[in-house]
Amino acid sequence: MWYRSLGFQLICTVSAIAILVIGVYASVNINTQRSQLIQQVIHSSNQVSETIKRSMRYDMLKYQPERLHRAIDTIGAQEGIEKVRIFNYLGEIIYSSDRKEMGAMVDKSAEQCYACHAKEKPFERLTTSARSRIFQTAAGHRVLGMINPIYNEPDCYSASCHIHPQEQKVLGVMDTDVSLAEVDALIMSNKRKMILFALVAILGISLTIGLFVQRFVSRPVKHLLEGTERVSAGDLSTPLDISSTNEIGTLAGSFDQMTQRLQISEQELKASEEKYRSLFDNDPNPILVFDRATFQIIDANIRATEKYGYSREELLQLSFRDLGDPEDAEKIRSLVVEACIILPKIRHRKKDGSIMHVDIHSCPREHLGEDVIIANIADITDSIQAEAQLIQASKMATLGEMSAGMAHELNQPLNAIRIGSDLLRKMVARGQSVDPELAGKVSGEIGAQVERAANIINHLREFGRKSDLDELEKVNINKPINDVFTVLGQQLKLRQITVNLDLDENIPPILGVRNRLEQVFINLVMNARDAIEEKREMTHGEAPEGVLSIRSYQEDGKVVAVVRDNGNGMPESVKEKIFEPFFTTKEITKGTGLGLSISYGIIKDYEGAIEVESMAGSGTIFKISFPALAAEKDLQKESPA
Ligand SMILES: Nc1ncnc2c1ncn2[C@@H]1O[C@H](COP(=O)(O)OP(=O)(O)O)[C@@H](O)[C@H]1O
Ligand SMILES: [Mg+2]
Repeated sequence: MWYRSLGFQLICTVSAIAILVIGVYASVNINTQRSQLIQQVIHSSNQVSETIKRSMRYDMLKYQPERLHRAIDTIGAQEGIEKVRIFNYLGEIIYSSDRKEMGAMVDKSAEQCYACHAKEKPFERLTTSARSRIFQTAAGHRVLGMINPIYNEPDCYSASCHIHPQEQKVLGVMDTDVSLAEVDALIMSNKRKMILFALVAILGISLTIGLFVQRFVSRPVKHLLEGTERVSAGDLSTPLDISSTNEIGTLAGSFDQMTQRLQISEQELKASEEKYRSLFDNDPNPILVFDRATFQIIDANIRATEKYGYSREELLQLSFRDLGDPEDAEKIRSLVVEACIILPKIRHRKKDGSIMHVDIHSCPREHLGEDVIIANIADITDSIQAEAQLIQASKMATLGEMSAGMAHELNQPLNAIRIGSDLLRKMVARGQSVDPELAGKVSGEIGAQVERAANIINHLREFGRKSDLDELEKVNINKPINDVFTVLGQQLKLRQITVNLDLDENIPPILGVRNRLEQVFINLVMNARDAIEEKREMTHGEAPEGVLSIRSYQEDGKVVAVVRDNGNGMPESVKEKIFEPFFTTKEITKGTGLGLSISYGIIKDYEGAIEVESMAGSGTIFKISFPALAAEKDLQKESPA
């Protein structure tokens, strides 16, 4: 709004000050001039009055009233003199240049008399101005009246006529009325001139200030304003066109410098943004930026669009939770607070529904004032598959190793079947009649043994099944432990290894895959078997009875399984390396060196831990622990009993 502008406000303020100062000056000047003029008139009136009084003195002493009257008439008729009159001490007009008033009485309390007669008792001497009064005539102009008392003097009371007694101090009063018309006209003309001067001065000052403000303040300020508006609209290249050397010029200079610097930093920012963008887009891994509060994806690099199969626009419509298990997304959000974290082996879904295994490296950041999480996603599907293949290979190796023992496992049921069938066959050959009760018993036993053998074979088949990318399930750890002895129990018995199982029946479940957990325990049990046999060999059969014990229990929210043997143990140098792939101390035919390294990988997959304690010559303890699943946590999948 124009009336809010700096220029207008400056002009208004300066004009108001000019009006005030010049107005006060003019009014003081007019009043001073007026009072000076009046003072002059009073002075000259007094002189006239005094002249008349002195010139009449002789006539009064001589008592020649005609001469006195003529003098009064002559003077009273002069231009500018209204009238001259004389009062006696009683207040009677004894002579006046205005004949009509003669003989009239004046009230002593009247205005012109008041100065002397205020307190009934007359004062004797008064100053000139106290003796004067100004009043308005019927004709409309002002008149200055000058009272001049005529005092009793020795000449008067000692004169021959002897009219006045000596005690009388004042004989009468002469009143001279002088017209102020001319003076008032002069005052009025002065006043007009003064007002005119004041108006011209105010106008002049306001105009000058206005022009000055316009030239040196308003216009450059407007330029500055336009400049700032240009900058806020993003135009940093047009400099301000202000050449003055005053503060505004300096300000404009600094402003130009500032915009220049801003332009440079904007270019640098753009360059750095482009650099970031190119790093972002050329990263070999998909990168997603999502809002911490809503999981809304707010940026995605080219690789992310390639890997997930969505277009960038589609990705920006998605929530990070939509790409995988929402629980994983929640986990990332709760863990990524200050530092970056890696969440390994997460399952993500592509647009076509296929599953991709990823490691997600997530870091917290602030982006445009919002808390965001930058997720760098490494596709590990290939390595997971390779790992699964390795596990499969090791399973096969385990199966191969077990095959020798397997004969023992199957031998017993087969023997029982043979004995039963032989018995029946012999009885038939001898022509003996077969007792139906016996036949039923034998065939029942044969059936039971067939079922046992079938169980072993089924279990082996199940164990050997290729299951590369299993879904996690709720597993009671006692089950895979028991399973181990379905296929190895007989063999251990034959090798005279006592198995002690102490399994807590009320153990909470864990998250894992039963088949793989069994593989871990098979590895541990076979290692224990080897260690016990090795000790036997080394001591040439002097060793105490081989004992393998497995205990399961819960402790501090964890499910623990401890596998202990009294085999030959291992020295520190071996213990350090046992989890390395292909590390083995066994003969080529006996060991592959993969058992513990694969077990380690499986345990880590289920967020578990494995610790080992061993002393060369006296045995080994492996302690495995997994996080226990909270009882209320209801998983849809549960491993079959
Ligand atoms: N219970 C145990 N007692 C003594 N040594 C063991 C035991 N378990 C594992 N080891 C040692 O760890 C090595 C690696 O074991 P593993 O990875 O299962 O491979 P492998 O059994 O094929 O040798 C074994 O060669 C052995 O020296
Ligand atoms: Mg092994």
